[in-house]
Amino acid sequence: MKEDLYRASTDRYNNIKYNKTGKSGLYLPPVSLGLWHNFGGIDIYENSRKLLIHAFNKGITHFDLANNYGPPEGSAEETFGRVLMADFKPYRDEMIISTKAGYLMWPGPYGDGGSRKYLISSLDQSLKRMHLEYVDIFYSHRHDVNTPIEETTSALIDIVRQGKALYVGLSNYAEDATDKAVDLLTRGGVKCLIHQPRYSLFDRWIEDGLLDKLEDEGMGCIVYSPLSQGLLTDKYLSGIPVNSRAARAHFLKPESITPEKLQIIKQLNEVAGRRGQTLAQMSLAWVLKDPRITSVLVGASSTLQIDDNLKCLENLTFSREELKEIEEIISKK
Ligand SMILES: NC(=O)c1ccc[n+]([C@@H]2O[C@H](COP(=O)([O-])OP(=O)(O)OC[C@H]3O[C@@H](n4cnc5c(N)ncnc54)[C@H](OP(=O)(O)O)[C@@H]3O)[C@@H](O)[C@H]2O)c1
Repeated sequence: MKEDLYRASTDRYNNIKYNKTGKSGLYLPPVSLGLWHNFGGIDIYENSRKLLIHAFNKGITHFDLANNYGPPEGSAEETFGRVLMADFKPYRDEMIISTKAGYLMWPGPYGDGGSRKYLISSLDQSLKRMHLEYVDIFYSHRHDVNTPIEETTSALIDIVRQGKALYVGLSNYAEDATDKAVDLLTRGGVKCLIHQPRYSLFDRWIEDGLLDKLEDEGMGCIVYSPLSQGLLTDKYLSGIPVNSRAARAHFLKPESITPEKLQIIKQLNEVAGRRGQTLAQMSLAWVLKDPRITSVLVGASSTLQIDDNLKCLENLTFSREELKEIEEIISKK
């Protein structure tokens, strides 16, 4: 027997209350782990593996991927597939694994967008990279206005019918496109499980109709970048650390961390301190206080961050005064 054979922690389900995904029968953890950063071919495999194992040991059953996560594109799925083969295989049925297609993945006219050609071939590639027979959730990563929405949804329906995904979801779709897609999926006999939009104290667009729409449809909502890529933590309070996303990746630009923004982050950090929380915990709790939010999809570069983020679950309630103070602070944005 291999000495380092992974055995999941036996108390992994004791500390988390799982949320129903909309009106479906599927439960998701309130905190899920995304593999956008820190799981690519450029990252250290042992650290990526440690993060996945730590998360699962703590009851995080949902891992979110996309075809293009890396860098290079596809390598986060390869990393996940490697950990699955080495450690997670006995636990496959205890996991919800999602992937997506919609953004540029390979050159030429068939590696981007929402066409049937792209979605189906991309998912086939993702399954191979992850050594999976099916994913639990497959997303159309964005609404492609150059593809008839009927074509995208019919591809999603066929993907479910072929058994390559158990459920389908939409990501980054505006309210009207969501409405249309959900209707077409329903008419094709496939319920749209979930929407994956961006949402945080710094980005509240889903409050203008999308959240109501999801509730009406009985869909779940899993939000990405709930920490605004790390801005809504204490990470940048005294400068930009060398190993941070702002220093390493081009998705969070150092110039976006302006003195005005830092001032807001500092004030939010004070409110969090008074609540006995870190800023990361308060920012996640603020999102999860809305019962329409099924899960916050966080990223992490260390196991300490995963632990910090999970602690948000210890206090998800806010007083009226706290909410008012937070509103006043973020309105200066
Ligand atoms: N559907 C879409 O279009 C889409 C788009 C983006 C993301 N996503 C999904 O959402 C997931 C999460 O997105 P995200 O990574 O932007 O989420 P995020 O949780 O807002 O940001 C994660 C980053 O914040 C920092 N961080 C996390 N916890 C921390 C803590 N407790 N204290 C200090 N810093 C902390 C880490 O940065 P450092 O690395 O600097 O330590 C971490 O990589 C992705 O992995 C992906 O699965 C989906």
